[in-house]
Amino acid sequence: MNKTIIVSNRLPLQVKRSDNGIDVTPSVGGLATGMKSVHKDSNGVWVGWTGLTDDEIDEDLRSKVDIAVKKEQCVGVNLTKDDIQNYYYGFSNRTLWPLFHYFLEYTEFEKEAWESYKRVNEKFAKVVIDQIEDGDKVWVHDYQLLLLPQMIKAAKPEVPIGFFLHIPFPSYEIFRTFPKRKEILEGMLGSDLLGFHTYDYERHFLSSVKRIANKEVKFNKITHDNRVIKVDSFPMGIDYKKFENAAKDNLKQSNRQKSEVQRRLDEHLNESKSAKMVLSIDRLDYTKGIPNRIRAFEYFLNKYPEYKEKIRLIMLAVPSRSQVPQYQKLKRETDELVGRINGQFSTVSWTPIWYFFRTMPFENLIDLYTSSDVALITPVRDGMNLVAKEYVATRTQQDGVLVLSEMTGASKELGEALQINPFNFEEIADTLKRALEMPLAEQKSRMVSLQKRVSRYSVERWAEEFMTALDSSQNVSQYVEAERLNENHQDNILRSVEDSKSTIIFLGYNGTLVDYKDNVEDKKPDEALYEILSNVSQNPKLEICITSCSKNEDFQKWFADTDYRLISDHGAFYRKHNIWTELEALKTDWMEDVIPVLETFVDRTPGSYLDVNRFSLAWHYGAADIEMGEKRVTEINTVLTSLTSNTDLSVFHGKEVVEVKSTKVSKGYAALQVLKEKTFDNIIAIGDDWTDEYMFEDLPDEAHTIKVGIRKTNAKYYVKHVEEVRSFLKALAKQ
Ligand code: ADP
Ligand code: G6P
Repeated sequence: MNKTIIVSNRLPLQVKRSDNGIDVTPSVGGLATGMKSVHKDSNGVWVGWTGLTDDEIDEDLRSKVDIAVKKEQCVGVNLTKDDIQNYYYGFSNRTLWPLFHYFLEYTEFEKEAWESYKRVNEKFAKVVIDQIEDGDKVWVHDYQLLLLPQMIKAAKPEVPIGFFLHIPFPSYEIFRTFPKRKEILEGMLGSDLLGFHTYDYERHFLSSVKRIANKEVKFNKITHDNRVIKVDSFPMGIDYKKFENAAKDNLKQSNRQKSEVQRRLDEHLNESKSAKMVLSIDRLDYTKGIPNRIRAFEYFLNKYPEYKEKIRLIMLAVPSRSQVPQYQKLKRETDELVGRINGQFSTVSWTPIWYFFRTMPFENLIDLYTSSDVALITPVRDGMNLVAKEYVATRTQQDGVLVLSEMTGASKELGEALQINPFNFEEIADTLKRALEMPLAEQKSRMVSLQKRVSRYSVERWAEEFMTALDSSQNVSQYVEAERLNENHQDNILRSVEDSKSTIIFLGYNGTLVDYKDNVEDKKPDEALYEILSNVSQNPKLEICITSCSKNEDFQKWFADTDYRLISDHGAFYRKHNIWTELEALKTDWMEDVIPVLETFVDRTPGSYLDVNRFSLAWHYGAADIEMGEKRVTEINTVLTSLTSNTDLSVFHGKEVVEVKSTKVSKGYAALQVLKEKTFDNIIAIGDDWTDEYMFEDLPDEAHTIKVGIRKTNAKYYVKHVEEVRSFLKALAKQ
């Protein structure tokens, strides 16, 4: 049975050494808690780090670890102490984490850590590749493994690869500061589907792909390496039923069944009718806005002193990444702040903040969620924040108020929460007061709407939608209407040549017969191509016509010793029996009027330039800011369309170029002139770029047309690479 291989840095279980062997505990954090329920119901495997390094285990312990891991359908990746230091604490958590959360001042870049990051991604790739069987899919998770999709794709091109980023993708202005920005994007683009929590992260990513990796992006699809990569947002949900059921059970508990934590909470709540509890739960991370929250709480107590002795903030902070200096600093700062405020406000019978710095079993989390009147969630930046959704799921009586930072991914979905700017203490204090005093009816109406949404878009649904999108990303026909040229199609075309009296084969050049190059020198035909073309031309039934945008002088140099028909300069010149003619007597006096117009666009669009060709004017914007370039195209089109109306000029929009030329200068028009000259009863046309599309369109319907590359096309078939064109020609030559 086909399986899905989940890959993340951390496995859903963490193994630690203990006196009598090993200790296994569940992992904390949105990724592990969310994916765990998806994984448990599947027949897949989960590849990741166990939590122990190679130096911590001997042979005996390793087999124990392997057994524990296997029991949970997991496969461990062995990491050394050095890997953890440089790849995990280093590049992942001192470079990528702060950068992607807009903490530029915390972002360190060290070459050694980067090298380690690459090495560890390769270690993961090895383990994953070993696990892959026919029909399997791979789903890679999060910022620790950004290079992995490309590594797997290189080894297993046919395997569908999905990638999901659990943290924000920063705006281009932030991402561009990062020395390895291009490598990171290339790594991610090994995927067939890329998922983000919100549309904002998706568009930030696409903007970087366009501007940094210079890839073609149309809506949410990227063309790269002859593949179409889909990018979409999938807001991650929670295992709603699990939290809801646990909360229901919690409410039914008798006094005897209650946990110690629950008893303490009850004590506070029973102190008076007006006693209130405010809850926050997070990993101790500087992105979570913990100091801001405490300061805002202090501000609240000063501004609304009537709440003294009535309100209590319960802060659960889970230890996290404690070897990174910023986390150590945050720990000190949090301890000091809590100490100061408790010192300042406490009375004999009241402490304003209860602060727990540890992990807690699931049952205690539920105690906290179900006992709190308000959840105060104030990250300064957070990819999603599942705690907010968990609080919603546990409010089975539909009471309670969620106060949520607008800097979380969850805020985009949870519109009925009271949203705050985590940097605005005044707003937090006032919103907290509003939450505490909110009438029950309003609490209920907000909570019911929140619950509807959170229960509908659960983590199962999230995973299902992601996998369905991954499956459909494999179906290239949704992007390209042409059919992939297969052996049957090829045989039919070969047979048509055999059955014909004479066949003409129109061949594009740059990108069709040779790999696409900008520089003329690099475009020269290689020996292998000369040989292939010569073999094809041995067949007396076949005539070759190479069509190109190149200049006729270059073409003449390259093909002087042959008798092929040649069409150059986009279709302006034609060579037959080694004699060049101009296909039409073309006027160029229109250029005088159009050049000044295009020059204004060059001036206003840094990086763009104007190419004055013999018969055409081309405004190239590939080196300009791509988004500005695309905006200008709309303007240019409007201006040129009115300027060229009632003339025989046309405006063409190609890849990063707008071109103005006579309608009669086109490969399609030129090909038709060739067909008028001699009757061919069979036509084959192969081409890769937008100028070839006119040829595909203009040729008679029965022509066999083949596009090189995955793009929308007028051709009937497509192949992926120049190499495939060459093997088709070789087969043709063997006829
Ligand atoms: P992040 O992924 O940045 O840690 P999230 O809010 O998305 O933040 O996810 C945190 C997850 O960790 C939640 O599912 C939450 O239930 C769990 N969690 C948080 N604190 C604890 C704790 N003390 N003990 C156990 N699980 C915890
Ligand atoms: C966030 C990240 C996860 C990570 C988790 C816990 O949720 O997105 O990738 O696993 O935090 O962090 P840790 O460094 O302990 O794995």
